[in-house]
Amino acid sequence: MYNSKITGVGHYVPENIITNNDLKQWMDTNDEWIQERTGIKERRWIDPQSEDSTSIMGVKAAKIAIERAGLTKDDIDFIIFATLSPDMYFPGGGVRVQDYLGMPTIGALDIRNQCSGFIYAVSVADQFIKTGMYKNILVIGSENHSGGLERSTRGRNVTVIFGDGAGAVVMSRSSKKDIGILSTHLHSEGKHAKELSLIGPSTGRWVDTIIKENDPNDVSYYPYMNGQFVFKHAIVRFSEVITEGLQANNLTSEDIDLLIPHQANLRIAQFIQKKFGLSDDKVFNNIMKYGNTTAASIPIALSEAWEQRKINDGDIVVLAAFGSGFTWGSVIIKW
Ligand code: UT7
Repeated sequence: MYNSKITGVGHYVPENIITNNDLKQWMDTNDEWIQERTGIKERRWIDPQSEDSTSIMGVKAAKIAIERAGLTKDDIDFIIFATLSPDMYFPGGGVRVQDYLGMPTIGALDIRNQCSGFIYAVSVADQFIKTGMYKNILVIGSENHSGGLERSTRGRNVTVIFGDGAGAVVMSRSSKKDIGILSTHLHSEGKHAKELSLIGPSTGRWVDTIIKENDPNDVSYYPYMNGQFVFKHAIVRFSEVITEGLQANNLTSEDIDLLIPHQANLRIAQFIQKKFGLSDDKVFNNIMKYGNTTAASIPIALSEAWEQRKINDGDIVVLAAFGSGFTWGSVIIKW
């Protein structure tokens, strides 16, 4: 058995900043409500005139991660791409990255686990590396939410929360014991699938039906979130899965050097921080600047934390996420 280790991190966010006040041009909302309920001050939304897309942002983040790993694109032997907002219904973003980066015909896998997508992707990469199948895996989380949000008062409870961006890591084989990914823990509870979902267009509600019904009140092709229901489950599952990861490694919350929670809501992160008795310097949040970027949120935060030298060799870094599915998970790392 080998060990796997994150050897390079990178992120990319579009230049176009949308402040809370900017949202007023489309909907009845205000800065005070958004900041008080979510902590978000601004988010990035792709400028439709720009070249950016889910896969292109992923490529931009990936280039940085590969360079920081001290590798080239030709050293990568597998791609894992997590998103809920692919450029196309099919194929997914992984193959587009393979093409845009001019990589050899290596395998590319897409992960569809929404806010937990990056955690699931890291877990899959970890298994491939531990068994010796691959040496260097490119793991990307990227989202273009702005392309599919309802910009009206009707959609405001969802639209104000989400932002665009991408983060990437390179995971590499390591022979050093007890360094790298210590464990990953994944969960799901599909009975709540509709509480945070986008129903159609899909094979369950195809375009023909939507056109035939021509219902002005149809919102099935916009994301739906039962906010308070999701919030209540999130705080329970975050706590459980972090505890599960710590216990699996005989660690306690006092051993955590940095917790990077999925950036769903600053209030959720603050609840978790308090629950585990962590000081401010031990929890990394950037939702204030980017909103919720779903599968991209943890790798963007990881990359920023690394750039700000908040992660040092030997640190215990905990990643945790909860979201649509419901799915949730954690990763315990000794950096
Ligand atoms: O990343 C995946 C996981 N996601 C999460 O974990 C998100 C979990 N949920 C949440 O973060 C929160 O539930 C939200 C931030 C989404 C919403 O906050 P809330 O405190 O649960 O608000 P609410 O949905 O209960 O709405 C309260 C009020 C409503 O008005 P009334 O009915 O009380 O008059 C809404 O119409 O706030 C109103 N409202 C808004 N007002 C101004 C909803 N959205 C907005 C808005 N601006 N954007």
